Amino acid sequence: MTNATATDKHPGELADVPGWFPPLDQTLFTWFLDRQKKAGIKGDLLELGVYMGKSAILLGHHLQDGEQFTVCDLFEGDAPDEANKAESSKSYASLTQQAFERNYLSFHDSLPTVITGPSSLVDEKVAPDSCRFIHIDASHLYEHVYGDIGAAHDILLPEGVVVLDDFRSEHTPGVAVAAWEAVLNRGLRPICLSTQKLYATWGDPEPLQEELLEMLRQRSDVGLSLQEAAGHRLIRTRSRGMKPPPFPPSRHYVEPVATPAPAPQVAESRAAHPAGPAPSRARRLAKDLLPPVITRAVRRARAKRS
Ligand SMILES: C[S@@+](CC[C@H](N)C(=O)[O-])C[C@H]1O[C@@H](n2cnc3c(N)ncnc32)[C@H](O)[C@@H]1O
Repeated sequence: MTNATATDKHPGELADVPGWFPPLDQTLFTWFLDRQKKAGIKGDLLELGVYMGKSAILLGHHLQDGEQFTVCDLFEGDAPDEANKAESSKSYASLTQQAFERNYLSFHDSLPTVITGPSSLVDEKVAPDSCRFIHIDASHLYEHVYGDIGAAHDILLPEGVVVLDDFRSEHTPGVAVAAWEAVLNRGLRPICLSTQKLYATWGDPEPLQEELLEMLRQRSDVGLSLQEAAGHRLIRTRSRGMKPPPFPPSRHYVEPVATPAPAPQVAESRAAHPAGPAPSRARRLAKDLLPPVITRAVRRARAKRS
């Protein structure tokens, strides 16, 4: 995870919001959330760790009537321990709750329910068995992620999907330990892996995997492979130059002004790149254009002179 640069401007498009949300994950979130909608699955949405709102803005777009969206972040508040404080001041120093809210409200009419504080608060604030989709992207330290996975287990509906960010990044071994421990010992069942995120469920992953494979096999911009590990089928995906899925622009979007194309400067460009030396070009033209009768007359006159 490299640092995302904060900006004071209102975003015009999702791409303008700083954060860590690659096109492949935007595509997978969109697919899982749309699929839940098509299947008539209702439930709330939850995100732990919003930063400037990039993934939260996309999640909020999928909220259906009667559903709640809750987000949790420390923002400028105190981290619960020194390691978490160090992590936050290194990577998220420019974050403010105001910046998150400004970005979110650029795309949506109202804010989600915001829990300002450590993600350990979520278990008591969000009802058990209430969510269909949870994104865990707050602290990347083992103890916190262990707790977040436990909370997700309580809060997620049986057929719900949980996504764990940075489950295999070089700088976040704590997430890797917590993620695979949950798979081996806490009943979590992987659906698929992207470069950055693990998608999983405590329900049956197989029907989801079959539909996902069908969708992914039709795309030429996704690398795909299947592996078995400890009795789990893992669908590995990676982007092959994937573009983000279409997403509505914000209320601050300004259509780029089309700059008129410069008038062609034929004479100048010919002068700059002449097709060949002028005399031979003229001679070639004369040869092509003069009728053969005149050419023969010219040849006879030349012969007489010599
Ligand atoms: C990687 S960023 C989230 C990125 C965001 N989901 C996106 O799409 O760009 C992690 C966020 O988690 C927050 N955070 C760190 N430790 C936390 C904790 N213990 N509880 C809640 N939030 C925390 C940070 O303030 C930061 O905004």
